[in-house]
Amino acid sequence: MKKLYIETYGCQMNFADSEVVAAILKDMFALTDDIEKADLVLINTCSIREKAEQRIHKRLQELESLKRRHHGLQVGLLGCMAERMKEELLRTEPVLDFIAGPDAYRSLPQLIADSRDAGPRFNVMLSEEETYDNIMPVRYDVNGVSAFVSIMRGCNNFCSYCVVPYTRGRERSRSPKTILAEVKQLLRDGFKEVTLLGQNVNSYYWKDEAGEMTFAKLMAVVAEMSPDLRVRFATSHPKDISDELIETIARYDNICKYIHLPVQSGSDAVLKRMNRSYTRDYYMGRVRKIKELMPECAISTDIIAGFCGETIEDHRQTLEVMREVGYEYAYMFKYSERGGTLSAKRYADDVPDEEKTRRLEEIIALQGELSMVSNQRDVGRTFRVLVEGASKRSQEQFYGRNSQNKVIVFPHGTEHPGDYIEIKVTDCTPATLLGVRV
Ligand code: 5AD
Ligand code: SF4
Repeated sequence: MKKLYIETYGCQMNFADSEVVAAILKDMFALTDDIEKADLVLINTCSIREKAEQRIHKRLQELESLKRRHHGLQVGLLGCMAERMKEELLRTEPVLDFIAGPDAYRSLPQLIADSRDAGPRFNVMLSEEETYDNIMPVRYDVNGVSAFVSIMRGCNNFCSYCVVPYTRGRERSRSPKTILAEVKQLLRDGFKEVTLLGQNVNSYYWKDEAGEMTFAKLMAVVAEMSPDLRVRFATSHPKDISDELIETIARYDNICKYIHLPVQSGSDAVLKRMNRSYTRDYYMGRVRKIKELMPECAISTDIIAGFCGETIEDHRQTLEVMREVGYEYAYMFKYSERGGTLSAKRYADDVPDEEKTRRLEEIIALQGELSMVSNQRDVGRTFRVLVEGASKRSQEQFYGRNSQNKVIVFPHGTEHPGDYIEIKVTDCTPATLLGVRV
């Protein structure tokens, strides 16, 4: 059988999509992790910031020499960049045989055949229905312990800085029936953790003759499938963190006590220009509700430094919110203008790059302190840890995660990936907890 090599950039959704792509092509291609052996190379791309796209342009240039050496090799580009730049990419990147947007993966066999016979091809049609509902993803490059299950696609929020509504189209949910069938299969295959995925996962909604399904209900149904299955979700918009959802997370031991709740900015004026549809006050109210029902719950966030019109005072308010919440973890970025978005059309990208960098560095330094404080609080505590495997540094050290999604490293004894064990934390760094089995 011919060989397929897939390289994935960007978010967890993209990694889940690559598994769908591998499934769609599984009768034509076997997966390889050696690009030199591939007959087809697929690059699943991200457009979220300019840097992400620059990295991929560079990678495509590298692939030109591979293609010269391997006669008959086909190269295809998938994902958000395909959608954002469309057929223009075929002109600017001669290495590409075809491009396919995020809703066009069922047409890959056709694109592969047509481009082989008749030159470059593309399909970047977005769909209002496609959820790859009936496709059981091929799990590759995973530890056999935790897996992603995509439950909805697209986004209707139109945050002014963000390309996602344009690259991934309108929001649509997948039927509970196929989601639950997929989780059941994962359980049969020995998986111990599922992460329910969507760009905006908590606005999941399904209604049919059998009744209606909200995201909170779906979480509960999945959690009830097995007490030994851990359930996580990503990524959520603060506007949709309902009391019902927080109560559901609190009610089930096997729903992880970890919520990623992107704040983006601590200033109401900036949040308004970002079209985030909440205020700092509302956001802090959600955080208080989470902490009230689950004092042990970890919260992480996304922050953008130097958005259009952001003043020093706006920036100071972001730092203030970070301290007030005491985030366990944060993903932190400089604002990067993306063509076609609302902010690119409406507002000047007027914070100088140097100043963006300075603010970002301040945010990163503060998060380092907050993560350290949070980790130090855990020293002396005992956690139930799901073992994932050997640590990168040494085979004698294993690692796993606690419910709060913190990585805990411990000396390897008799445990195997997929085991639940009790670990007492003895020490920490800002990024990791260190412990021993009890
Ligand atoms: N510039 C910088 N960061 C961005 N993000 C999304 N769009 C942009 C942009 N144009 C960040 C947000 C989002 C995360 C996935 O990426 O913080 O939550
Ligand atoms: Fe990147 Fe956003 Fe597309 Fe994910 S959805 S690949 S983060 S642009």
